[in-house]
Amino acid sequence: LALLGLVALLGYLLGSVPFGIVITRMLGLGDLRQIGSGNIGATNVLRTGNKAAALATLLLDSGKGAIAVLVARALMDETAAQVAGAAAFIGHLYPIWLGFRGGKGVATFLGTLIALAWPVGFGACAVWLVTALISRISSLSALVAATAAVPLSWFLGHTDLMLLAAALAALIFWRHRSNIARLANGTEPRIGKKG
Ligand code: G3P
Repeated sequence: LALLGLVALLGYLLGSVPFGIVITRMLGLGDLRQIGSGNIGATNVLRTGNKAAALATLLLDSGKGAIAVLVARALMDETAAQVAGAAAFIGHLYPIWLGFRGGKGVATFLGTLIALAWPVGFGACAVWLVTALISRISSLSALVAATAAVPLSWFLGHTDLMLLAAALAALIFWRHRSNIARLANGTEPRIGKKG
């Protein structure tokens, strides 16, 4: 149990590295907190107009979830892998470095899922992509993909993942409260638009 606690702590610390902030600062793209939604994720980095920076944020924020899972699995077992992935996700949402004011978790959720069970992870990515192609709205795509992850886990035979997927999806909805309000009144911006 002490080992699982250590896995959770390390996963949390890795997950709490806010790559969107790091990259935009390094490239001198301005203060992400003052741009668009003020969020630290790839969608908001794209609002700086720098597509490569947004892509790098997406890959690194999803990569940290995946790495946490893969390392924990290699050193311990599947339970540790789930704990590490969940901890990295929580780290992204509530990072110690940013006074616990972090992101919305979509990229880290997808990266964690891919590493835990790639058919479920890529299935959720596909749902995100299809919704995004139709709606052009990142937050809506995230909400649909997060919701789909639970039945996807079921259909693809990863029932052990359903509880975790449901818990993380619930947190994704919680973190998208302002987006949901904008979706409801029709003011949520399309991908790449400043709003
Ligand atoms: O991945 C976060 C996305 O779903 C919403 O981001 O910046 O539009 O609030 P944003």
